[in-house]
Amino acid sequence: MCGIVGYIGTQTAKEILLAGLERLEYRGYDSAGIATVVDGKIHSIRSKGKLHKLREKAEKELILSKAGIGHTRWATHGKPEEHNAHPHMDNNNRIAVVQNGIIENYQNLKEKLSSKGYQFLSETDTEVIPNLIADLLPSPNSDTDLIYPSPLFKAVLESIKLLDGAFAMAIISSDYPDELMVVRQQAPIVLGFGQGEFFCASDVTALVPYTSTVLSLENGEIARLTPLGVEIYDFSGHRLKKIPHLLDWNPMSVEKQGFRHYMLKEIYEQPSVVRNCLEKYINKDWNPNKNLNCNPINLNLSPELYENLEQINILACGTSWHASLVGRYLLEKLANIPTRVQYASEFRYAPSPITANTLTIGVTQSGETADTLAALETEKQRRKDTNSIYKSRLIGITNRPETTLATIVDQIIDTQAGIEIGVAATKTFLAQLMAFYFLAIDLGYRRQTLSGGEIQLIIDGFRQLPEKIEEILKTQERRIQELAHNYLEAKDFIFVGRGINFPIALEGALKLKEISYIHAEGYPAGELKHGPIALLDSKVTVVSIAMAGKVYDKAISNAQEAKARDAHLIGVVSTNDTNATLTFDDLLPIPEVDELLSPMLTVIPLQILSYHIAAKRGLDVDQPRNLAKSVTVE
Ligand code: G6P
Repeated sequence: MCGIVGYIGTQTAKEILLAGLERLEYRGYDSAGIATVVDGKIHSIRSKGKLHKLREKAEKELILSKAGIGHTRWATHGKPEEHNAHPHMDNNNRIAVVQNGIIENYQNLKEKLSSKGYQFLSETDTEVIPNLIADLLPSPNSDTDLIYPSPLFKAVLESIKLLDGAFAMAIISSDYPDELMVVRQQAPIVLGFGQGEFFCASDVTALVPYTSTVLSLENGEIARLTPLGVEIYDFSGHRLKKIPHLLDWNPMSVEKQGFRHYMLKEIYEQPSVVRNCLEKYINKDWNPNKNLNCNPINLNLSPELYENLEQINILACGTSWHASLVGRYLLEKLANIPTRVQYASEFRYAPSPITANTLTIGVTQSGETADTLAALETEKQRRKDTNSIYKSRLIGITNRPETTLATIVDQIIDTQAGIEIGVAATKTFLAQLMAFYFLAIDLGYRRQTLSGGEIQLIIDGFRQLPEKIEEILKTQERRIQELAHNYLEAKDFIFVGRGINFPIALEGALKLKEISYIHAEGYPAGELKHGPIALLDSKVTVVSIAMAGKVYDKAISNAQEAKARDAHLIGVVSTNDTNATLTFDDLLPIPEVDELLSPMLTVIPLQILSYHIAAKRGLDVDQPRNLAKSVTVE
């Protein structure tokens, strides 16, 4: 939610800020702005709408300032209008602030500042911050308080102590043009270290072209960036010693590389994501016939996490929640371990009863979803002082192991998917599924619920998956692109699946609605007759996942029930299912695959179909309206 950038150094700030915002646009894109100090005054440019509007405005001006801040917004308080866009300034234009998060007590602070004569020009919560700082900032000629590195630092520090909520922010002042202040309290922000230049950004994606030396601020930390270096303090004003680390990212990973949209690029990256995961987590020494003491899967999780395990509890949101539903199926079926999946946003305020010997798993592609992090914190906290059987054991499943998630959980399973930029999750979903397969096999091996032969069969099946995904991309992408034409005016879709493919029906529906804005629902196929069937007529399309396996016949019967009500039917079926045309009007065929592994393939044509319907409708596939990739507010 919202992207922040900041720069101080030797180059002209404007272009670095705009380019940084472009790389953060996936976090929010309803309005944007930048602020720099020009001739001793704050100079700000703001614009409603997507970033190119801001760029058009900014390019008309020559701004030579070498420090500045920028923001791309996902509205919380106040409509997406220019006057609500960040940066926000104090009444005398001495301070500019960009903020990501929510200031919960802003009304109260606003009243206090108003009673002192301050005026507010926006409906945002953020606008109180520059005014609070200005109120506490001495005039440039007053005596300096030597306890603090600068008067601006002191005013910022005193102001943030008055704020309730979760936030990350960057601040500049016309009185102190050689300082950039950066604050973190429960919302992500990372610092970048260059040669005589320093950066801050909500995500490392914005920094990758400039530096690979980075440091994530932690909650309750404030950084003072000057052209000479970076100082980090806690909220009590004590200086902290922190060591940046090197990021091993290829700048190309955040480029479109010739694809029209990031989403399509990320769909095409899926075979290599699966290969990377296999390479990383399948133990090369594993041989079911020779060495029975060698674990087939190498997740490197500490043994305490597994000890006397009785239950697993998974917390996630959105697409990660769908991956977790597949995870539950696998953990229960392969490792015979009772597993619960909860919406993180619900768990925080209505946690399930505390259970003994429970492993809690947080699943999040961004590693920053506020609800998921808060739910994990809740779980950790409530188990803190309990008897050892209730002690928390937390793991995180993510493709972003460097994010806040890692600071909360005991260990991370890195899904090896790398950064994903398209707002609609694709490759990260597939990678999360893989993490669950591996965890379930690992637990199945340890708990002896799976034989060596069974494990080998699953692994053999897995090894064939990258080529099978490639085959779908090669033989079906074009065909699905043409098929998408028929659905451009569609109003309602119902996706149905059974067993392990029920969550894929949910995910198929979510993909379609989030990027094409067509109404779509996902249901367990057997539930169609308990309500949704009333909606069916010739204008409704039913997408049925009907893969060979034990639920195939039932899936076909459910599809026939929909056909009898005149619904238009699309079937996700095996290429060798010669009877499929008897039931379905259109087919999304995929290579033959064992039912247990089928979600790894059934989701692919659904991603492609959603992509092409949305692209043909002329919509912004990578940045669908009202959504954001990283939801850092609750
Ligand atoms: C947002 C994104 C979704 C994502 C969800 C959970 O709503 O638009 O694509 O599934 O957040 O995100 P997470 O990063 O926790 O997986």
